[in-house]
Amino acid sequence: MIDVVVVSRKNEAQDICSYELVSVDGSPLPAFSAGAHIDVHLPDGLIRQYSLCNHPEERHRYLIGVLKDSASRGGSQRLHEQIHNGARLRISEPRNLFPLADEARRSILFAGGIGITPILSMAEHLAHTGADFDLHYCARSSERAAFVQRLKDSPFSERVFLHFDEQPHTALDAAKVLAAPEDNVHLYVCGPGGFMQHLLDSARAQGWREDRLHREYFAAAPVDNSQDGRFSVKVGSSGQVFEIPADKTVVQVLESHGIEIAVSCEQGICGTCLTRVLEGVPEHRDLFLTEDEQALNDQFTPCCSRSKTPLLVLDI
Ligand code: FES
Repeated sequence: MIDVVVVSRKNEAQDICSYELVSVDGSPLPAFSAGAHIDVHLPDGLIRQYSLCNHPEERHRYLIGVLKDSASRGGSQRLHEQIHNGARLRISEPRNLFPLADEARRSILFAGGIGITPILSMAEHLAHTGADFDLHYCARSSERAAFVQRLKDSPFSERVFLHFDEQPHTALDAAKVLAAPEDNVHLYVCGPGGFMQHLLDSARAQGWREDRLHREYFAAAPVDNSQDGRFSVKVGSSGQVFEIPADKTVVQVLESHGIEIAVSCEQGICGTCLTRVLEGVPEHRDLFLTEDEQALNDQFTPCCSRSKTPLLVLDI
């Protein structure tokens, strides 16, 4: 855990603030790679993940961008309302679940709305290393697009394409941009669920290989829980069996019996709770594992995923 202080909070766009964080004792912060995020521990115990959007060579600060989302579970509102210059926060070391592929000959970066944050860091890194890339940034309007001036002032500004819904002539033509996939070109997408689905579907329709498609979700889509049933989990090490009722997660039931599984996002995005499955078939509800990884059925995210079989045996 790292203690940091907010040295600069700026309004970057409508409902989007950036927070510049430095360590309380002035020491360099742990190095990070483009696409990494940190867990931010808010004063009342909430933990939220935010991508780092500064240049990944920097060690003297971390920069995060936060969209105040009234539909969120409260973390972003709390940051906007309670965290100002001089506030202290506890953060985790950076983790990267959305890394750039070293072998890419060229990268195409797509950001939707606040999804620009990890993409910015990626663009900085790619430009710094002289790599070939383009960045497409989609937002509802220029007022809602954060960091536009930074992009315009950047040494890679000619690689940036802005697409605003309010300016139909700037609309992104995904089929055209993604036409004729080449083997060493990688695609990175971050933004709202519908935006990401559209781009990933467009890429697949054009014949892009699944392992060339990289994505990071900010929030899970709402899940219909109405048909959820009960099932059991067996703790592999002790043989204890617990019933998971329809309205509880595996993590909640195990925790109530003193068995802790580390969690962070609690919605299947971060992978913190990933647990190996020894027997049974999980019903995957996460956005962390790839489709191929899910199909192996040898691990699952007990914060949200359930079971297709009456019993799951877990490697804990
Ligand atoms: Fe994030 Fe389970 S806690 S995936």
